[in-house]
Amino acid sequence: MERPSNAYPMNGGEGPHSYSRNSSGQRIFIDRACKLIQEAVAEHLDIEAYSSSRAFLVADLGCSVGPNTFYAVSNVLQAVEQKCHSLGLDSQILEFQVFFNDHVGNDFNTLFRSLPPDRRYHAAGVPGSFYGRLFPKSCLHFVYSSFALHWLSGIPKEVQDKSSPAWNKGRIFYPSANEEVINAYAAQFAKDMEVFLCARAQEVVLGGLMVLSFITRLDGAPHSQVFVNRSLDLLESCLVDMVKKGTLSEERLDEFNLPMYYASPQEMKEAVERNGRFSIKKMVELVEESAEAYPLTGKMIASTWRAALEGLLKEKMQFGEEMLDELFDLFARKHDESSVFKFARESSITSVLLERSTTN
Ligand SMILES: C[S@@+](CC[C@H](N)C(=O)[O-])C[C@H]1O[C@@H](n2cnc3c(N)ncnc32)[C@H](O)[C@@H]1O
Repeated sequence: MERPSNAYPMNGGEGPHSYSRNSSGQRIFIDRACKLIQEAVAEHLDIEAYSSSRAFLVADLGCSVGPNTFYAVSNVLQAVEQKCHSLGLDSQILEFQVFFNDHVGNDFNTLFRSLPPDRRYHAAGVPGSFYGRLFPKSCLHFVYSSFALHWLSGIPKEVQDKSSPAWNKGRIFYPSANEEVINAYAAQFAKDMEVFLCARAQEVVLGGLMVLSFITRLDGAPHSQVFVNRSLDLLESCLVDMVKKGTLSEERLDEFNLPMYYASPQEMKEAVERNGRFSIKKMVELVEESAEAYPLTGKMIASTWRAALEGLLKEKMQFGEEMLDELFDLFARKHDESSVFKFARESSITSVLLERSTTN
């Protein structure tokens, strides 16, 4: 069976290029989403309705290898325990089951080896794409996901079709491409969100909650202004340099596209409304400080992207370690020499709280 085109998980293990050693940037925003989780549980979770079943089921979709997933899960569980205390319920009677979901190729071994020894939950791994059913009907009480929903289920077909006006020749992504390419990516995101929401609507109990955090493009901002997009433009220019040097073939570059899309909060809102199975209770922006507050360097950015994209580049570009070192060294230098960091301020990270509503 052919692997779905986005099924390239983050780098596993605990080595220098692993996700576990290169994801502290995301951690800042996981902590910030904690307030929304607390509010969500305090104001919207009908814990008394679920306490009779005694089992409270949580899923983290796109959990990767940790440690971020463990912080996120512990934030959810603490919020539920606090809610129990505030209602005079004994939280000890609740049994927590946490499902860690990611692609089948995710390094679940590293994840399980690093599970917190003092955890107060039963842990299980659920392999597979969240763009499809993963759980039985009406079983989940709380779904969490961070930094995963910008990964599409695949690259839009038109973008790879030489006869289509959306063929993305010489480019690896949409932000600086023509309108047809941008539209193809946006349409893929809309389709994927519909599939995601339909699947979750089956799995989440009525009144159950989802908190989804993802990198967004500010409403109305051009795609080309978004920090992550500018950063990936630099990756593209490194690959173009490699074609010019003869270390990468033009054909291989033409065939390579990134299966990601950074939607705006408005696009997310429209997807939820179109689907109609969840209602948005709150949407918050997690980027609060100015770019000066994040002293980013090219090396930091390059390491974060390497942890995320190495698998994809190895498989699609047939890059070995030497080529990857060359690529990401150049990528880091290009960041330091560019004006990209001033766009960090324009970045947006949105966290949305959804409640499974009665509509079907
Ligand atoms: C950047 S990591 C985020 C990890 C963690 N949630 C965090 O906040 O640090 C994105 C994760 O989403 C996973 N992912 C992407 N698309 C997915 C899909 N369709 N189904 C399941 N996992 C997916 C990737 O494999 C990757 O591990």
